[in-house]
Amino acid sequence: MITRHEAYDLSRRNTFGMKVSCRLYVEVTEPEDLLSLDFDTLPQPVFVMGGGSNLLFTGDFPGTVLHMGNTENRFLDSALVISTKAEGRVEKSLVRIPAGVVFDDFCAWAAEEGLWGPENLSLIPGEVGASAVQNIGAYGVEAKDIIDTVHAFDRTTRTFVDIPVADCGYGYRTSNFKSVWKGRYIIIAVTFCLSLVPTPVLDYGGVRKALIDRGKGIPSPISGHPRPDKREGPAGFAGGRGRSEAEAISEGIPFPLTPQIIRETIIGIREKKLPDPAKIGSAGSFFCNPVIEKDHFARIVTLAKAENGPDYEVPHYEVGDKVKVPAAWMIDQCGFKGMRLGGAQVYPNQPLVIVNATGDATPQDIIALEQRVIDTIQEKYGITLHPEVEHV
Ligand code: EPU
Repeated sequence: MITRHEAYDLSRRNTFGMKVSCRLYVEVTEPEDLLSLDFDTLPQPVFVMGGGSNLLFTGDFPGTVLHMGNTENRFLDSALVISTKAEGRVEKSLVRIPAGVVFDDFCAWAAEEGLWGPENLSLIPGEVGASAVQNIGAYGVEAKDIIDTVHAFDRTTRTFVDIPVADCGYGYRTSNFKSVWKGRYIIIAVTFCLSLVPTPVLDYGGVRKALIDRGKGIPSPISGHPRPDKREGPAGFAGGRGRSEAEAISEGIPFPLTPQIIRETIIGIREKKLPDPAKIGSAGSFFCNPVIEKDHFARIVTLAKAENGPDYEVPHYEVGDKVKVPAAWMIDQCGFKGMRLGGAQVYPNQPLVIVNATGDATPQDIIALEQRVIDTIQEKYGITLHPEVEHV
């Protein structure tokens, strides 16, 4: 079914809560309906939107906003589960999820089913289709790690295509869908390759520590009474890739580890740092973490030690022969935590996030604060921050 709304209010369709509208809003609930849509007659430009959680509308949109709403939260019915056999054991499940499904509903379902893969991506806002455009990521896992195939409608040939993950050009928060293919494909579903064998990723940020803290506490109903593994496949425990059960138990990680326990732990970490989307509007991380040359990083270390003392350590991650420096750290160092400009604010608990603090911030408020942050970081560190959030 195709539903059309003229002069449509987008306030509830963007997580920033910008009070903006579009000339036409088109909701498509069955992928086949795309064949009957005459794109040339729609008000231009046509913008395909997911959950509206990673974008900033800079004003009223003059064209058409199209949303794939093929979900009805029916993904349990519509999920196509194909198991692959390796060495006689069922180890992987291919699961096809419609584009309009809320990504975290998919994470919750996978954890419930005991399927490993998306648990570290729990609570990321947005929909399944957008996860494949943006290559969403958190706590050492990116969407590309679990995507098998992206199913899309090709607007140029008016056909449905299946694009293998290797052809999608995935990188840090980017893909061909965002660059060379921009505007060409409308994602209708994503097939994920999930594991029945434990594949926990615990080495990023505070995940392992949060699990150990959880292990020290009163056993949760889940760790105390693990859900029986409904699927065939090696049950068991891995406290991290290549770790023995004994090692993990001695570290205090809850046993047996399940995707559900990791999901709950990730949710706990995120809830402490990130604004509750139901209460405060934002689009998650506003900026990408910059990757710089090693000599440039050395100058930043010298500056940070001069300001914070000789023992001070600058957080960073090595990426090949370059260094990724957390933008949150630089924004924090520049004293931006909690800073307000109009209705926009740098979120105090995670300064990488800009929020609509008053509920009536305008796009101009957000852009003014964004520019203030970019200019200050440029001046102090010689780094140009690039927004992760798409400006529409
Ligand atoms: N930091 C500070 N001060 C702060 C906060 C952070 O100095 O107030 C430093 C800390 O050293 C911390 C580091 O910044 O270790 C990095 O912070 P964090 O681990 O919270 O992650 P991030 O790099 O800021 C990225 C993603 C998040 C994702 C987290 C966790 C991007 C743009 N953002 O943030 O993704 O949840 O890692 O994996 O890569 C999103 O995309 O919307 C998002 C929330």
